[in-house]
Amino acid sequence: MTAETHAPGSDRSADLHWSARALALAAQADYRTSPNPMVGAVVLDREGHLAGEGYHKGPGRPHAEEEALAQAGERAKGGTLYVNLEPCTHAHRTPNCADAVIESGIYRTVISMTDPDERVRGGGVQALESARIRTTVGVHAERAQKLNEFYVKHRLTGRPFVTAKFAVSLDGKIATRAGESHWITGEESRRHGHRLRSQHDAILVGINTVIADDPELSARLDGEDVRQPLRIVLDSQLRIRQSARVVGTNTLIATTKPGRVGLAEVLQLPAAADGRISLPDLLDELGKRNLISMLVEGGGEVHAAFFAEGLVDKIYAYVAPKLIGGRDAPGPLGGSGIEHLSDAAGLMDLDFTRLGDDILISAYTNVHRDR
Ligand SMILES: NC(=O)c1ccc[n+]([C@@H]2O[C@H](COP(=O)([O-])OP(=O)(O)OC[C@H]3O[C@@H](n4cnc5c(N)ncnc54)[C@H](OP(=O)(O)O)[C@@H]3O)[C@@H](O)[C@H]2O)c1
Ligand SMILES: [Zn+2]
Repeated sequence: MTAETHAPGSDRSADLHWSARALALAAQADYRTSPNPMVGAVVLDREGHLAGEGYHKGPGRPHAEEEALAQAGERAKGGTLYVNLEPCTHAHRTPNCADAVIESGIYRTVISMTDPDERVRGGGVQALESARIRTTVGVHAERAQKLNEFYVKHRLTGRPFVTAKFAVSLDGKIATRAGESHWITGEESRRHGHRLRSQHDAILVGINTVIADDPELSARLDGEDVRQPLRIVLDSQLRIRQSARVVGTNTLIATTKPGRVGLAEVLQLPAAADGRISLPDLLDELGKRNLISMLVEGGGEVHAAFFAEGLVDKIYAYVAPKLIGGRDAPGPLGGSGIEHLSDAAGLMDLDFTRLGDDILISAYTNVHRDR
């Protein structure tokens, strides 16, 4: 048979439509797949009708392609598969997804991006093409890279994606001169902040924040069973009190000293020149543990250190319509700051969202793109 009689709906607008559907399915996992990517898949039959859909729900669960192909059954023969990430070639189970696609009799695949994982890296596309499956790569590539930005950074660098988050008044203060900071922003912003926590694998704060505020550092969303990130405290000298609310299981105290702190894990790391914890070493260690994302929540000294070393990938700034004023009221970044405006870190890809009366500004400082 000629290609054309087999090829269902291979026009560009259908590709854009169904690739977007695969991305929307993938996003339903809402970051619960870590350390795996979020993947969605759609199977159309040879007439171009929807035959199967699926998405990866988490480690140990079926891959998106397996779900969609199982739903499509015989209707996959001669059909098209849309998936936002290249099918895998590693033996997580038999057959792997690339082989499963080949065995299903799929005629054509449309893939948004190749997989940066070194076990795949184009191998899935190659396997499909060697089996004479028509393959189109790159439809909605930007959206696909963004959806899996945690995964992409981790696989390319071995480190988690670092998000820095802070809440400020319109004049850029994070607290009054007396140290009051609860709450500068409104309820919607705070809810958004809890959602961000639940989407990251870890949250990190400095020891001064623990001493000043005694935060619990949990993700709380009304009526939802949310994923709790690992809580990390930077505490070079092990000053933390055993009674601090953050001390418990699911907590890691990063320090340069040996010691024990309740049920928390104490992780001894090398000190940087200033005697504080070496942040690159911390990120390498977290990456090895398969944490693919971390939310840095301050305070100012910690933010300053992450920015100064160029270790932040994305920022979320919640700006509230309040004026605080005062020379002694702190801003979100401590440290000694920069002298020249030309040294200011460039922010890219800005986005603005209204949250109640507040404005959320998000922006990137680093961009990790796989090829
Ligand atoms: N409004 C908000 O959104 C918000 C959010 C968070 C905090 N805060 C406020 O911020 C204040 C605390 O901020 P802060 O700037 O004083 O302290 P911080 O950033 O919470 O903690 C800084 C401390 O972390 C330790 N640390 C270990 N390794 C480090 C490294 N590589 N780089 C930087 N610090 C490292 C250092 O103490 P050691 O040398 O002893 O380890 C350092 O003094 C509190 O008053 C809190 O209420 C406000
Ligand atoms: Zn797979």
